[in-house]
Amino acid sequence: MCGIVGYTGGQEASPLLLDGLKKLEYRGYDSAGIAVQNDGVLRMIKASGQIANLVEKTDGGAALPGFTGIGHTRWATHGAPTDTNAHPHMSNDGKFAIVHNGIIENYAALRQELTDRGFVFRSETDTEVIVHLLDMYYRGDLKAAVMHTAARLEGSYALGVLCADQPGKLCAIKMASPLILGVGVGENFFASDVTALVSHTKNVIYLEDGEFAELTPENITVYDCTGKPVSHSVSRVVWDVEAAEKGGYDHFMLKEIMEQPRALKATIEPRIRNGRIVLDDFDDAFRVCFADVRRIVITACGSAYHAGMVGRYLIESLCRVNVEVDVASELRYRDPIIDDQTLLIAVSQSGETADTIAAIKEGKNRGAKVLSIVNVVGSTIAKLSDYVIYTWAGPEIAVATTKGYTTQLAVLDLLSVWMARERGLLTGERYDELVKGILALPERTQRSIDLNPQTGYLAERYRDNTSLFFIGRNMDYAVGLEASLKLKEISYLHSEAYAAGELKHGTIALIEPGRLVVALACLDSLFDKTMSNIKEVKARGAKVMAVAREGSRRIFTEADDALFVPATDPLLTAIPEIVPLQLFAYYVAKANGCEIDKPRNLAKSVTVE
Ligand code: G6P
Repeated sequence: MCGIVGYTGGQEASPLLLDGLKKLEYRGYDSAGIAVQNDGVLRMIKASGQIANLVEKTDGGAALPGFTGIGHTRWATHGAPTDTNAHPHMSNDGKFAIVHNGIIENYAALRQELTDRGFVFRSETDTEVIVHLLDMYYRGDLKAAVMHTAARLEGSYALGVLCADQPGKLCAIKMASPLILGVGVGENFFASDVTALVSHTKNVIYLEDGEFAELTPENITVYDCTGKPVSHSVSRVVWDVEAAEKGGYDHFMLKEIMEQPRALKATIEPRIRNGRIVLDDFDDAFRVCFADVRRIVITACGSAYHAGMVGRYLIESLCRVNVEVDVASELRYRDPIIDDQTLLIAVSQSGETADTIAAIKEGKNRGAKVLSIVNVVGSTIAKLSDYVIYTWAGPEIAVATTKGYTTQLAVLDLLSVWMARERGLLTGERYDELVKGILALPERTQRSIDLNPQTGYLAERYRDNTSLFFIGRNMDYAVGLEASLKLKEISYLHSEAYAAGELKHGTIALIEPGRLVVALACLDSLFDKTMSNIKEVKARGAKVMAVAREGSRRIFTEADDALFVPATDPLLTAIPEIVPLQLFAYYVAKANGCEIDKPRNLAKSVTVE
């Protein structure tokens, strides 16, 4: 939610800031702004709407010369997405400009106090209190002003501070919101995410909560909240620049769909050694922990929650352990049954989702061990967890996740087979069969892409359906949940996923002639049952687009159209099955002229509750 970026060095700051903001645009895109220090004066330009508006308004950055600056792209929480509410925010005397990602929970009391002291507020944001606090505490010592200010703030913040009096200097402060420092040669950076840094430097420092840093072109000094310098090692980012570019595709989403075979390979192959699944370097430690586990709770949000739904079917079927899946924003408000014999599995692409973080803390307080499945190295969730299995999907830029989700499924496949073997529930033969099936998933996924060139045509045919349903049973149902979310996220069509047998208990009242029902029928054992449900909706005039196994002829006895999925072990079907439905969602959104990579109202990384 919101992206921030900062630069100090020998190059013009504005073009670099604009470029960084473009890379962070997935974090929020309702308004943006930059501020630059030049000859002891701060100047800023802000624009509502996408970064392109800011690029135009600043003439590609030429309108704001200077070598030190900060930038922000916003997902509004406090106050509408207007120019005035956009960041940076400036102090009344023009001495400070700041950018902020997060929420200041005690802003109302601070605003009152500062107003009483004569500070004039221009925006409706929670952020503006910070810049006035800095102004109030500043007596020529930036570090002292930052420490005093931070001590007054409650909530979450990644902050970038620019001060007119301090040429070439930036300050970056982190508390419960992501912030990374980029270490260059004769130049230094900060950003919410490494994607904004990798084209300039791959050397980064991950700040801890409560720490702040002073950056000049030559130096970075990190302090703890008491002002004591702390040393940090410099980490090397493995993502490359091309990964954050569109690479010839019209949209990041399509590129990321097509990248799935590669991302799955990178996630799966290093974890299978000599035909055995190995959980990175914590295999032995996790074995000891897992011996005591009696229950598993999976928690996540959005698509990651849907991955968890697939995980439940997998783990229960293979490991015979009771698994509960709960949306992270609900988990801690229902007095959950979690104890020291519970394994909490948190799933998150970004590793920064506020609700998931809160659920993990709740689980830890109740004694659970936490294993997380995360894509972003060094993220908050990774740091909070006892065990982390990274998905090696590379940076995911499109707001609607695709490769992030399927690599989460791949890790759940690996994990559940590992756990089942650990419990002695698999014969050697079945284990080998499943391992082979997992290793084949990248190739099966490619086959799923190749098998369905008709998705664009089907999207054209069904693009006018304003409300549709996805139905399926068991794993087909779990995949339907994700397929339905994908469609509504990017095409804004109303869509719901139902357990196929449940539709008749009320919702079937909405089926009328011409209504599209997407029926997922990839599980042989449930095929006939799902066919009966297809007949029920057909009898009421629905159009049915089925998703079925490659070669299934029977599906056409009822379905009007079909997408096909290559033969896979039924337990491993989710990955190849979602792929044609991702493509369907993409092409419907494209046919309807929607903003695919940056759908309205959404943000990729939701760092507020
Ligand atoms: C947001 C995104 C979703 C995502 C969810 C969880 O709502 O728009 O696509 O699934 O957050 O994100 P996470 O990073 O925790 O997987």
